[in-house]
Amino acid sequence: MKISIIGTGYVGLITGACLADLGNSVVCVDVIEDKVKSINSAVPPIHEEGLLELLKKNVGKNLSASTDAKNAVKNSNITFIAVGTPSRDDGSIDLKYVEESAKSIGKALKEKNNYHVVVVKSTVIPGTTDSVVIPILEEFSGKVAGKDFGVCMNPEFLREGKAIHDFMNPDRIVIGEYDKKSGDKIYKLYKNFNCPIMRTSLRAAEMIKYAANAFLATKISFINEIANICEKVGVDVCDIAKGVGLDHRISPMFLNAGVGFGGSCFPKDVRALISEASEENYNTILLNAVLNLNEKQKMRVVEIADNIMDLSDKNITVLGLAFKEGTDDIRDAPPIPTIENLLRRGAKVSVYDPEAMENAKGIFGNKVKYCKNIESALKDADLCIIMTEWDEFKEIYDKFKLMKNSIVVDGRRILDPIKAEKYGIKYYGIGYHKNQIR
Ligand SMILES: NC(=O)c1ccc[n+]([C@@H]2O[C@H](COP(=O)([O-])OP(=O)(O)OC[C@H]3O[C@@H](n4cnc5c(N)ncnc54)[C@H](O)[C@@H]3O)[C@@H](O)[C@H]2O)c1
Repeated sequence: MKISIIGTGYVGLITGACLADLGNSVVCVDVIEDKVKSINSAVPPIHEEGLLELLKKNVGKNLSASTDAKNAVKNSNITFIAVGTPSRDDGSIDLKYVEESAKSIGKALKEKNNYHVVVVKSTVIPGTTDSVVIPILEEFSGKVAGKDFGVCMNPEFLREGKAIHDFMNPDRIVIGEYDKKSGDKIYKLYKNFNCPIMRTSLRAAEMIKYAANAFLATKISFINEIANICEKVGVDVCDIAKGVGLDHRISPMFLNAGVGFGGSCFPKDVRALISEASEENYNTILLNAVLNLNEKQKMRVVEIADNIMDLSDKNITVLGLAFKEGTDDIRDAPPIPTIENLLRRGAKVSVYDPEAMENAKGIFGNKVKYCKNIESALKDADLCIIMTEWDEFKEIYDKFKLMKNSIVVDGRRILDPIKAEKYGIKYYGIGYHKNQIR
């Protein structure tokens, strides 16, 4: 099929590259020229496992990028909207990029005669496709949804860091459809995927995405609350999560205690759902608590560090800047407020992350020292805080001896405390009690 994608970020580019790899002809559209150039040279503008290989294989054949939305839409039969849907200051969803995309698609549809389906892939509040996207498409195309063009809402569930794997091996595909004809067309695009394909209404598809993210965020805040209690009662949250996660009704996924959730989705989506519910006069007791706990949790490692030593003028190493492993994304990443807090306390902060250093420079400027590897970050440090669960941080026990004091606060519980002690490391971790009560 011929596909255009408006918005070539984490979701748009992965969707485009994967659909091209599956044999479709894809044009990815973005307003950022450098991004477009980079893709057309088969250089990934973001860090994602396997993306370089996919671009090398498909760019110049059935995948290209462009800044020309009109042309891309006119020369395709399906257009995905995959632009960002950030939070406004009050937590509500900002739809300006979705609206702009819908306008440019509408203008292109005006000049197009054959049937076209517009698919909203961006995460949008229930009712958005119906009450915002379709009216704009109709206004700017002079055509009628259902009659002249189709509309679907197809939420994306991929995880950054594993995005290509997740796109190619989804647990399920959800197609919200304006009418059967629209849904049939998108079903055909996905029918060879080996997973359940659920067809539903536009509004239900929009809500499924929010409910899924709200649940996962809740699971993380839940285990973090348990972790904080574990520290008080003298047990290790990792043991507790294992024992709880073995229950099939619960599963071990998303039961890793730590510094809280971040990234471009969970915080903003939970905030948007709370805001939408409040517009409808519903008080989201549970979701408010999920967010409140998450905010506090981001400071937990600083509290632990502060109890160990006076942080003022100390050399503190922060390992990990990305909001999770496998990505260079630092949007709403827990290390950001943690580092800001350390700086406020007068600490001298050195940082290292395998992928997210360039993005972090945009936030911290010259307030922190950027180190080229783990060794230089640890050298002569008074204390190290692990903030991201990168694989390369998991077996560095012998490197902590480069520090002035081998004191480690493990914000992701990726080190084995017993092994750490054997290496002479003074180990502290979220949900870990030094003198476990046996
Ligand atoms: N990142 C994720 O892991 C993830 C997962 C599932 C769903 N989502 C949702 O998908 C959507 C996109 O997220 P993302 O992380 O890919 O965002 P992103 O910020 O990485 O990418 C969005 C892109 O859209 C471009 N853009 C904005 N307006 C445009 C326009 N009018 N025309 C063309 N391009 C335009 C931007 O330049 C940017 O490159 C959001 O709604 C997000 O909530 C994200």
